[in-house]
Amino acid sequence: MNRPNSLFAKLKDYSETENYPFHMPGHKRNTEMLGVSFPFNIDITEIDGFDNLHNASGILRTAAEKAEKIFHSEHSYMLINGSTCGILAAIHAVTKYNDSIILARNCHKAVYNGCLLNNLKMKFIYPEQDIKSGVSGSVTPDSVLLAIKACPNAKAVVITSPTYEGVISDIATIAKIAHSFNIPLIVDNAHGVHQSFCDFCGGEPISSGADIVISSLHKTLPSLTQTAIAHVNGGLVPHKKFENALAIFETSSPSYVLMSSIDNCFDFLMNSDEYFVKYKNNLLRFSENIRDLKHLKVLCHGNDDISDHNFYCFDYGKIVICTNGTNINGVELMNILRNKYHLELEMSYPFYAVAMTSVCDTEKGFNRLSAALLEIDEGIKSDGKSVPILKMPKPKASGLSLVEASELSIGECFCRNISNQYIYAYPPGVPIIIPGEIIDDEIMMYIDRLREYGTFVNEELYSKSKRISKFK
Ligand SMILES: Cc1ncc(COP(=O)(O)O)c(C=O)c1O
Repeated sequence: MNRPNSLFAKLKDYSETENYPFHMPGHKRNTEMLGVSFPFNIDITEIDGFDNLHNASGILRTAAEKAEKIFHSEHSYMLINGSTCGILAAIHAVTKYNDSIILARNCHKAVYNGCLLNNLKMKFIYPEQDIKSGVSGSVTPDSVLLAIKACPNAKAVVITSPTYEGVISDIATIAKIAHSFNIPLIVDNAHGVHQSFCDFCGGEPISSGADIVISSLHKTLPSLTQTAIAHVNGGLVPHKKFENALAIFETSSPSYVLMSSIDNCFDFLMNSDEYFVKYKNNLLRFSENIRDLKHLKVLCHGNDDISDHNFYCFDYGKIVICTNGTNINGVELMNILRNKYHLELEMSYPFYAVAMTSVCDTEKGFNRLSAALLEIDEGIKSDGKSVPILKMPKPKASGLSLVEASELSIGECFCRNISNQYIYAYPPGVPIIIPGEIIDDEIMMYIDRLREYGTFVNEELYSKSKRISKFK
């Protein structure tokens, strides 16, 4: 059964190389620490005695109750279609067709897809870009207040915290502001499920007053890919509404392998203090080890301090290595780490590359990364002046709704310079352009620059949009 060219054989071969994962999933394939394997013989369906995720009252309800206790949440839901299905369900639960919603513009495409399904009118908040690193800064409470005043009939505010790069927003204050207008706050916490267990990752998002918090377990905790969790708290969103919406977006055949991985993860969390202390020490040691970097900078680590940036708070579990001002870019750095040091990072962008860490990383893994960065730093140069970061464009709206724009033919798009699609760099999957926005020269130049640096921008849409711009 183990065919030589099969995906399974390829995965097995790769698992036997010395490549170290500074990327998701958070279990880091650390079977030495976790001591588990997930074979076929536990992959079942809803047979007698094993409950039903969509109507949990037995062993799956008990697992959810464990989560409610661990995360101090009123209602917790295991998700096996990733944070994506929790985000779709959250938006569906609080909006009706043609409603309005307030979003941070740096939300993941899952949030936009949630808006597309209900043809929502979107009012954007633009987090300020950090000029030193190029990453999006925090969503400020003031910007939320302004957006609500401009769009008082919004049915929800949606923000991402932490971002892919670890930037955290002041959820407690933003929740208070939204609640004073009776508007629920949805937090895309896909990258922050570990925050509840660390004192160095930006605090507790679930008890900060957000109404719905969605987190990917698989990104930063020991749980299999696609596993996630959602929490519904407070009185603004009836949890039954969320459950009903979840039933639309979550598969009717939830994998027992994935669900048992979630349950295992909860058991791990109940006895994880010692591991999180080790994790913190690993991060502190890493920070100390890279203090002497001369050219590269690691965001909020080493000799870079959070006070140098406009962030409300930062998740120190994210290692964002900035190449700005040096003679290599983020994509090249990621390639060097892969090819020369066998360290695989999570993502790269023109001015930085992101190593995602978790409680399952080993001291040896951290030491390999710091040693590699010091060696690379020795061999590169700073040109003495900082190259200006790529300024994120603010696309103009055409006035068409998401649904109207999605239905435009390519010909109509060409004539009107309007996109009928999302264009994004992946990762992080934050749209540069959404359906209905104008593709002008500024946008095209931004995409060209991203691609010059070797960043992946979804190819088909990119070339289409190039053709669109020729019609100008
Ligand atoms: C900010 C953000 N939200 C949501 C998601 C979707 O999460 P999942 O892959 O668990 O569905 C991602 C995925 O990378 C993400 O980066």
